[in-house]
Amino acid sequence: MQKVVIEGPVSLSGEIDISGSKNASLPIIISTVLAKGSCLIGNIPNLRDTRFLVSILKDLGCRVDFQKNVFAVHSSVISKKSADYEYVRQMRASIVLLGPVIARYKKFKIALPGGCSIGTRGIDLHLKALKLMGVKISIRNGYVQAERKFSKLKAIKHKFSKISVGATQNILMAATLAKGKSILKNCAIEPEVIDLIKFLNNCGAQIKINKRTISINGVEDLNLHNHEVIPDRVEAGSYILATMASKGKLILNNFKPDDLTNPLELYKSMGLKIKKLSNSSYQFSCQNLKSINKISTKEFPGYPTDLQAQVIATLLKTGKRSKVEENIFENRFIHIPELRRFGADLKIKEKTVEINKVSELYGAEVMATDIRASFSLIIGAIISKGTTTINRIYHLDRGYEDFDLKLKKCGVNIKRKK
Ligand code: EPZ
Repeated sequence: MQKVVIEGPVSLSGEIDISGSKNASLPIIISTVLAKGSCLIGNIPNLRDTRFLVSILKDLGCRVDFQKNVFAVHSSVISKKSADYEYVRQMRASIVLLGPVIARYKKFKIALPGGCSIGTRGIDLHLKALKLMGVKISIRNGYVQAERKFSKLKAIKHKFSKISVGATQNILMAATLAKGKSILKNCAIEPEVIDLIKFLNNCGAQIKINKRTISINGVEDLNLHNHEVIPDRVEAGSYILATMASKGKLILNNFKPDDLTNPLELYKSMGLKIKKLSNSSYQFSCQNLKSINKISTKEFPGYPTDLQAQVIATLLKTGKRSKVEENIFENRFIHIPELRRFGADLKIKEKTVEINKVSELYGAEVMATDIRASFSLIIGAIISKGTTTINRIYHLDRGYEDFDLKLKKCGVNIKRKK
């Protein structure tokens, strides 16, 4: 098990190039199975998850390649009609393969993704909509067995009972090749969904979005088109929070402020200063970090659940009591016991964490439990006195490209250890 050792405390000071968005790259890579031809997709972060997804597509028979942040599709034809448990259990997002594959091929089998450390992560919303589109679904031996009943999927007018990024992506992709016009309501509208729509429209899809309603005119076929993935807003927010926590000064390049409007407003009320250097470079600093009454996670454009763990870590040493409420996942507080190891004073009351001021934090041995929780441990380490060892850092490698090199460039004494 790989780990990192960090010596604290330290103030982040330097410059970081933000990588391409993991959560935009995954559905866009998957969506290539909908279209014919070939293309190059740039700014794909070189992460455990993106490399893994490319290996899933290769296993299915696609002729694809992934080098130096570019994903090349030579042929997206699928010959194997099953995504095996060995793959799916390690990357839940692969369930989003089901919609596009069943839109093009009559049968497909994919292992149930199962839950993960932050919650049950159901797929009921995905399956309910696919059934309405004319897909026969049966669950057997831990697999979802799907069979398209007609020559094409049926277009649907459907309102999701709950806002879901993955379900929105799965069904909008399936609808691009359905017979007729689909209207999907109560959709997720995260920047990663918008980037997927942009890519698909460039491939010849006919997708329109109006508030949370997405309409899709099914087309005969799609042809692959080159694309550049948007920057990763969660990676950017994570480094901004580390800068605030450590009262540092950081320049972020390839940064898209429009994708983080809500968090930046909150962080400014906590003392963050922002200086625009160019269209995509911004300087962040924070000399006087203040607490905040309450932050509640919501679907975009609200405060992202993927920055919940990190903002809790940033608040550990601030003034009076702050609260953070998690409304998206039912079990996304597994980082709390790990943060307490630094000496943090945290109380969980149902969906809310209360953060009470402590004057000092001390380095500790901690364990990463999911991608975003593991970054909160990095923030804990850089504001604590002494040595911190973070175990199971494959979680970090899943979501933060070259995080150790980027932190080292900003003055952090961080070393990988076997
Ligand atoms: C995406 O996951 C992201 N992952 C997550 O980021 C992110 O936290 C999440 O959206 C919310 O923004 C990727 O894009 C690869 P959901 P997804 O479907 O699509 C429930 C990270 O760290 N739900 O929007 O799986 C679900 O259990 C990851 O990068 C159902 O009940 O999230 C959750 O409580 C973590 N039934 C809520 O909806 C369903 O059929 C939102 O989940 C689907 C979802």
